[in-house]
Amino acid sequence: MKRILSGIQPSGTLTLGNYIGAIKQFVELQKQHPDAEFYLFVADLHAITTEQEPKDLRQRIRQVAAMYIASGLSLEQTTIFIQSEIKEHAELGYLLQCHTYMGELERMTQFKDKSKKQTTGITASLFTYPALMAADILLYDADYVPVGEDQKQHLELTRDIASRFNNRYGDFFKVPEPLIPKVGARIMDLQNPAKKMSKSDASDKGYISLLDEETSIKKKIRSAVTDSLGIVAFDPENQPGVANLLTIYASLTDSTIEAITKKYQGKGYQEFKNDLADIVANTIMPIQKRFFEIMGSKELENLLDKGKEAAQMVAYRKVEKCKQKIGLGRKK
Ligand code: AMP
Ligand code: TRP
Repeated sequence: MKRILSGIQPSGTLTLGNYIGAIKQFVELQKQHPDAEFYLFVADLHAITTEQEPKDLRQRIRQVAAMYIASGLSLEQTTIFIQSEIKEHAELGYLLQCHTYMGELERMTQFKDKSKKQTTGITASLFTYPALMAADILLYDADYVPVGEDQKQHLELTRDIASRFNNRYGDFFKVPEPLIPKVGARIMDLQNPAKKMSKSDASDKGYISLLDEETSIKKKIRSAVTDSLGIVAFDPENQPGVANLLTIYASLTDSTIEAITKKYQGKGYQEFKNDLADIVANTIMPIQKRFFEIMGSKELENLLDKGKEAAQMVAYRKVEKCKQKIGLGRKK
């Protein structure tokens, strides 16, 4: 049976980028692979690589878990859990750090970008984070890892670490495959389409939060930066704003970019944006409604307890075997 695993950091409210790049993929993959097992977790240990307010963090951890459920995943097929509740993530993270080279971590563009934004207070964990991410995946012998484009490099490193370990100690870790969506793997900021849409952004005009109000969602789409050409065409180089909107449109309606550009041929941006504003709002609002029901219910606690138990069993066995392979402890 195939295992599909992914995680999302609770470092801000989830955005339309997270939905299109990650969550929507999970739901589609479940339909395509009805007998696969899904492991989805809240990557809270990753969130604390940068400073977090404890009260907010606790709230956001619940929110990400509730959002997984609200997005329409089949709960029989999915184990949803909180990363920090399974101690083996940190433990295997350390064991894998011992099999990861400084040079490899130094090449990670996400570390380079994040550490460029701040000059002081860069934590050691921000640097070693890809080894923890490798542990998240390798603990569960995941076959596939659906993620957005920004995680591709971390996935490649995970594969390298797994192969290195296997070469050294004999076959042990499953070498996972990334699954990156063809359309929508990188949704850009609505105000600055040269930048990825991100929840940790200071200005909230550039991103749509899955918890935004309907009027605000529509307004953000209508006021998204475009250009003065006035042609709905897919040209990421010269019309990056319009290309981004087209990507969102195509992804949420499951249509091709060609079909959409044809539909708006000879029409201006206004009609295109108005339609897209409705599409985005009609996607998010039902999810939001379920989200608020789940946040206030006992169902969430029960599911997370169940998820913890199931994940724990798999993770414990894997780490014990891993330690044996390395030669740690007394047991052979
Ligand atoms: P993060 O919010 O960084 O924990 O990311 C969670 C998932 O959402 C990962 O699979 C990311 O690759 C994906 N993701 C985040 N931002 C975007 C974006 N702007 N466009 C597409 N996918 C994204
Ligand atoms: N690093 C990922 C991100 O920032 C989140 C993440 C942590 C993850 N561990 C993972 C994604 C394991 C997939 C698999 O988006």
